[in-house]
Amino acid sequence: MKKINAAITGIKGYVPDYVLDNKELEKLVDTNDEWIVSRTGIKERRILKGENKGSSDLGTAAVNGLLKKTNTLPEEIDLLICATATPDMLFPSTACLIANKIGAGNICAFDIMAACSGFLYALSTASKFIETGTYKKVIVVGCDKMSSIVDYTDRTTCVLFGDGAGAILLEPNFEGLGVQDTILRSDGGGGEFLRQKAGGSLHPASHKTIDAREHFVYQDGQPVFKAAVKSMADVSEEIMKRNDLTADDVAWLVPHQANKRIIDATSRRMGVGEEKVMLNIEKYGNTTTGTIPLCLWDWESQLKKGDNLVLAAFGGGFTWGSIYLKWAYDSKK
Ligand code: ACO
Repeated sequence: MKKINAAITGIKGYVPDYVLDNKELEKLVDTNDEWIVSRTGIKERRILKGENKGSSDLGTAAVNGLLKKTNTLPEEIDLLICATATPDMLFPSTACLIANKIGAGNICAFDIMAACSGFLYALSTASKFIETGTYKKVIVVGCDKMSSIVDYTDRTTCVLFGDGAGAILLEPNFEGLGVQDTILRSDGGGGEFLRQKAGGSLHPASHKTIDAREHFVYQDGQPVFKAAVKSMADVSEEIMKRNDLTADDVAWLVPHQANKRIIDATSRRMGVGEEKVMLNIEKYGNTTTGTIPLCLWDWESQLKKGDNLVLAAFGGGFTWGSIYLKWAYDSKK
């Protein structure tokens, strides 16, 4: 029997209209455009405004766009995996909510939580269902309404995050294109440096947790920065080595967009020039699970069938990883 690879056959991103730029943040906290751009590379980010809107609305917009673009009917979908760090609620899962909103009843749908590495964890999981022949059409969507857990009085985090979503369609490929290799790692010891402390079973919501501002994302930037630089570069180098890829073989590095300095360190270690690095952090900030599919969406028109892509991410947990894939189609946006 011919080997089945899981290949991306369509991509769609969605970002809300409202632009929160560095100038507006200067009015909220003691910061400035020069600090934010030089330390992170971020100029603006998108924010989902309005009542009763959650991550599932971002994800639904991306998935509906994907279905339209790929001429796929909701009833053709076998599985929908949603990666999110900001689920609409603890349960039902955001994947179930999205499946319902797009009109895909009766399908397998579940969430994956690996913070900023969530999209890679979800893509890797989804690819197994294709490679084993279990399913034929799988959607992976990364969506995060980070503004729902950002403290806009905390200058150390509020400048970093934005809202957004990206969705891919995965299908079987018999030409050797698609996902080739995956490395996924974690270190729970990093949990104390990057977390949303309250709202789960350990510290359920109470007046005390709200007064202590424990429902917001907390980050101790320096240890996270150090771990991110080392880990993302390590796994990107490792996946190249074990697949005999030289820097020339790599057409694109698709890095999680948390900080331009982390991305630069990763591409330097890989020996990949900056002209091959997908970067959109300046206009969206860190959209957590949305960053990698949003990059692929922004760069889709430049991707060619057979291109070698290395995807790499680092996030809360700590979690990190890389995926090596061969792009499966010549793209037109
Ligand atoms: N504006 C102005 N000054 C600021 C700001 C700001 N927005 N934020 C912090 N500062 C100040 C600090 O208070 C500090 O001042 P001090 O020296 O007087 O104490 C100074 O700037 C330096 O602060 P550092 O935290 O050392 O700044 P650093 O260069 O480390 O940059 C940053 C901070 C951008 C957060 C960086 O640490 C980083 O990118 N960390 C990793 C982020 C990441 O990869 N996260 C993982 C993914 S996210 C996820 O999984 C949800």
